[in-house]
Amino acid sequence: MNRLEWKPATVGEALQAAVSFFMQKEIGSPRLEAEVLLAYGLGVSRAGLLARLRDRLSDDQKERLGELIQRRLTGCPLQYITGRQEFWGLDFTVTPAVLIPRPETELLVEAALALLGQRDRTATTWIADVGVGSGAITVAMAREHPRLQVLATDLSEAALAVARQNAEQHGVAGQIRFTQGDLLGPAIEAGIRLNAVLSNPPYIPAGDIPSLQREVAGFEPKLALDGGEDGLDCYRRLIPQAGLVLEPGGFVALEIGYNQGGDVAGLLEAQGFADIRIIRDGQGHDRVVTAVWPGEKKV
Ligand SMILES: C[S@@+](CC[C@H](N)C(=O)[O-])C[C@H]1O[C@@H](n2cnc3c(N)ncnc32)[C@H](O)[C@@H]1O
Repeated sequence: MNRLEWKPATVGEALQAAVSFFMQKEIGSPRLEAEVLLAYGLGVSRAGLLARLRDRLSDDQKERLGELIQRRLTGCPLQYITGRQEFWGLDFTVTPAVLIPRPETELLVEAALALLGQRDRTATTWIADVGVGSGAITVAMAREHPRLQVLATDLSEAALAVARQNAEQHGVAGQIRFTQGDLLGPAIEAGIRLNAVLSNPPYIPAGDIPSLQREVAGFEPKLALDGGEDGLDCYRRLIPQAGLVLEPGGFVALEIGYNQGGDVAGLLEAQGFADIRIIRDGQGHDRVVTAVWPGEKKV
């Protein structure tokens, strides 16, 4: 954005200018993003913004809005600027230390709740969320299932701090044990037996990362994206670990990349998991795989 082009007198002119800058940069939903960003910058709701289109802007407001728009034009995702993202109908804090929760991940929560639904809801149930990130999966699960206890692991201390903050904000921190560690290592070391292992691990093939959207490749944590050469590194280590910690009849629910269903199902089958199901998203892509642990490895 050329500073000279930024001379809005009113909120409405600022909105128009922001939409046009965003269109020039081919930002996905220019009007929506401009409204959310300006509302954030002015400390009002979107409805409040639209009610103030004729209001004049102070010099301070012009400068602040100009800086926010500039930041978005560099490719920084809107959610890292506002610090917020909705998931499962709940408002989450997000920082650049965590992946921005995606709507597709709600399919994993739905699948896990459906499988847990077959269990006695009055019994305490232990699950793990491996790679907790912002806490999206963990918090949604804990809110839905008050007897659920969650072991939430991540390699990133900074991500764990964000997840803890979200759990506190949503009143479920008492149901969650946050532990820094590699995949299910903390559960294995502590001898914890689990009824379910949930995970949305990094699964993008390393070589594909540079060609992702600039918002993702340039701003989201590599640790949350990079699944090694073919994207399957975490599943190769996590699936055998899950067999060690799951109770007989326990299950895994794993988010996967759009074409990884066959490969991950193969890893689960080789490990002795049963009832393997691949769930597709609204676009028809592989998105979640679930499987039940029968209690012993097939030979
Ligand atoms: C794709 S993000 C998912 C975050 C969150 N669960 C969600 O669904 O929005 C993957 C997360 O796994 C973490 N991670 C990556 N490698 C890990 C490992 N070996 N052990 C534990 N966590 C790991 C990353 O730091 C990141 O927070």
